[in-house]
Amino acid sequence: LIERQVPLAEWPSEFFHAEDNIRKPGLLLGQPIAQGEGLKAAYARGLNQTLAEIDASGLRGRGGAGFKTAAKWRFCAEEAESERYVVCNADEGEPGTFKDRVLLNAFADQVFEGMTLCAAIVGAQHGFLYLRGEYLHLYDKLQTILAHRREAGLLGRGILGRNFDFDIEIRLGAGAYICGEESALIESLEGKSGIPRNRPPYPVTHGYLDKPTVVNNVESFFAAAAIAVHGGGWFAAHGTGKSKGTKILSVSGDCARPGIYEYPFGTPVRTILDDCGAEDVLGAQIGGPSGTFVSNREFDRLLAFEDLATGGSFIVFDNRRNILDIARNFTHFFAHESCGFCTPCRVGTSLLRKQLDKIYDGHGSAGDVAVLDEICRLVKTYSHCGLGQTAANPVLTTLARYPETYESRLKKISYEPGFDLDAELE
Ligand code: NAI
Ligand code: SF4
Repeated sequence: LIERQVPLAEWPSEFFHAEDNIRKPGLLLGQPIAQGEGLKAAYARGLNQTLAEIDASGLRGRGGAGFKTAAKWRFCAEEAESERYVVCNADEGEPGTFKDRVLLNAFADQVFEGMTLCAAIVGAQHGFLYLRGEYLHLYDKLQTILAHRREAGLLGRGILGRNFDFDIEIRLGAGAYICGEESALIESLEGKSGIPRNRPPYPVTHGYLDKPTVVNNVESFFAAAAIAVHGGGWFAAHGTGKSKGTKILSVSGDCARPGIYEYPFGTPVRTILDDCGAEDVLGAQIGGPSGTFVSNREFDRLLAFEDLATGGSFIVFDNRRNILDIARNFTHFFAHESCGFCTPCRVGTSLLRKQLDKIYDGHGSAGDVAVLDEICRLVKTYSHCGLGQTAANPVLTTLARYPETYESRLKKISYEPGFDLDAELE
């Protein structure tokens, strides 16, 4: 297109966000529900029974951590405080994750349905969609969908003619990765800097304005709305013992068919690589930089909370890639995104970046890989929140698998005690 000098406005839409293609719809993407269907089914069955169905479905949080959704909603519902909130975390910032963008672009109505269902069950009056700042292009479209839901009596006062008032407000993030951490997100919603709180207490008891608040990922609400229609058994019939249902993945990197894939939990990595047309694979980063690097000797490992948990990121690297480039890129990302609140992460991620750069640039000497490993462990152990606690994962997971690659970058000549320079020069 560039060679033919086609004006930008005439480029085919697939050219942008080519990875938005839904390549493999499954249980959820394959049969989206109709507007209002989830709420009507929930009221017909009874709200308590619907919560029991969500429990029976085994649905666990789809942001990555996998906390049981029904337990979270129940904790919130049981709080004595009458003012409660529902927050949809759409601050999708993990590198390589874009499934929430696609869900909001194609199925926002079902996501809002899930939020409203949650509000009905926990007794919330107000909801927020915290939208990643970079997803500004979705803002008007989402507002239009909310307006349609109000017109249809599915938001606002007296929803479905019942004694249930609930509405959803969209708030935009401003580009900080840390605001995807739920307590930093709540701080941001309150108009403060996105600095993570101490947890516990968790948002279900002390969330927005210190009131009971359910915070769930976009995909969790999307799935809950479908479970309200089809029942818990429908969902729980798929997946593994501890990971029920399906997971929506954002597949990107060195593969012929990047895009959105939905798999039952328990699917081997190899199947996903075959489906997306990956060849000569070095490895895959599963769960983004805070997740795990899986080498080509581990492709029988499974997509599941018991093995490889992921918020949805699946990045493929082929054999042209250098493992240190990958680790370095992610390590720079974390150093940049550290919010700076606590010393182990603020200083530690910078030290980690510098130490890795030193080795990468060929200036490291004997002992420098051990120092790198030591910094990783300090950052992981002493950081205040999940960002710092996982910032060392790209180095730790690649160092465990490819120590020789790190060692091979060290200077060959060193002046360690006992080093014989003459012998070395001969
Ligand atoms: P977490 O395990 O601390 O909490 C998970 C959820 O369960 C939270 O909503 C928390 O409030 C709730 N929870 C946990 N224990 C609870 C209790 N005893 N009572 C009530 N509620 C409780 O995990 P965290 O730190 O919230 O999230 C980490 C995950 O986020 C990681 O898996 C990481 O990979 C993922 N992540 C996802 C990103 C994305 O773009 N989707 C970006 C960055 C990280
Ligand atoms: Fe901020 Fe990092 Fe500390 Fe989290 S671990 S509070 S991101 S400085």
